[in-house]
Amino acid sequence: MRKVLKEALAIVKPTKDDEAHHRSMVDAKLTLLKKSVTGAKVILGGSGEKGTWLRETTDVDFFVQFPYAKYKDRSDELADLLEKSVKKAFATFGRVHGSRDYFQFFDQGKTFEVIPILGITKASQAKNITDVSPLHASWVKKHGKKYLDEIRLLKAFCRAKRIYGAESFINGFSGYVCEVLVIHFKGFGKLVTAAKKWGEKVVLDPAKYWKGSDVLMELNSSKTACPLVIVDPVQSDRNAAAAIGVDAFSRFVSACTDFASKPTVESFIERKLTPDDLRKKAGRNELVMVDVLPVTGKVDLVGCKLLKVLEFFERSLQRYGFTVVDKGLSFEGNALLYVMVKKEKMGPLIEISGPPLAVTSHAAAFKKKHKKTKVKGKMLIGFEKRKYFDGASVIADLKGDVYLKEKVKRFTLV
Ligand code: CTP
Ligand code: MG
Repeated sequence: MRKVLKEALAIVKPTKDDEAHHRSMVDAKLTLLKKSVTGAKVILGGSGEKGTWLRETTDVDFFVQFPYAKYKDRSDELADLLEKSVKKAFATFGRVHGSRDYFQFFDQGKTFEVIPILGITKASQAKNITDVSPLHASWVKKHGKKYLDEIRLLKAFCRAKRIYGAESFINGFSGYVCEVLVIHFKGFGKLVTAAKKWGEKVVLDPAKYWKGSDVLMELNSSKTACPLVIVDPVQSDRNAAAAIGVDAFSRFVSACTDFASKPTVESFIERKLTPDDLRKKAGRNELVMVDVLPVTGKVDLVGCKLLKVLEFFERSLQRYGFTVVDKGLSFEGNALLYVMVKKEKMGPLIEISGPPLAVTSHAAAFKKKHKKTKVKGKMLIGFEKRKYFDGASVIADLKGDVYLKEKVKRFTLV
């Protein structure tokens, strides 16, 4: 495994040249921002500050820390206060609306984010989750010195599996979760060995806040209703892994199982999904591929809309009697959405699920609508004439559907 990790690192880690170029660009922007901000502290944050950024990283995070004593009750005003300074430093920028607004501009292929925060010394003072970010960075810098390369490996590994990022359209592993995991398990290899044995629920408490007690009893159940619970090392009542969905979690566990039995450098390289890959993967199933021109906007929001479109495709296929065996999307500029549909014998009728028999008024209405019905368990089932005999026709007919109107600009079946 060691040889593979070394090779992978040579690919994902920024070279000395990358570092120098990145640093000079970041320093130039920082200097401009520092000059125009008064009464608040400008700092580099995120992976740039922690030394965990990947060679292909496209985002740089700047934080502007407003003194706590003066601004603790003015959390909502921070973005307005900062806007003038950002304007002075960088003529062209956008204001992004969020739980607290922040600013964004682009240069040389990188996205720079300028985030107003409150300067806090402990997480409990935070008025917004972003206030805590410098505490995350300090923790990683303090405990992760030995593991920066292995953190990079984990981030690349997750990215290659398409489970990197806590955004709601990915529901995967954030940069911080990757950092905490590698530090907790003392390395990438040891994490992989542990993770391949993970069951349905895993609870970790790296800073041992709840030693001797049950974390699941101590944390609010809404924070632990997910497969992975990592007590945030800087915030005992937060689950740092709350964004991770069942899907990303199980993909991670199986990726670790595969890697432990056969380590490959490919496991760290993100491959664009190509139609050929998908055809191979589909095997005997019908593959419906859709090329989508997304709406313009913030990546998170656009990604969310694409996911909704994919789910709408799935629901529509199911509505017309198809069994969906797999689905997914790849999104970089244009998006490719795909759904794999089981090829099965198709009779002239499809089953439509109805209401429970016991709800008599609904059952009567359903019977009125469907001439032929039957009872399955306690539920009523109706029959409808089959309209579609292949999945692609279902999707083709969704063109112009009002639900899709504000979610994508246009889509074409491949
Ligand atoms: N952050 C947060 N809440 C979020 C997103 C981010 O508190 N919902 C904080 C985290 O502390 C994170 C920092 O903002 O370290 C920067 O976020 P991001 O750029 O997503 O993570 P990085 O660690 O910088 O990783 P990457 O290399 O992917 O940019
Ligand atoms: Mg970042």
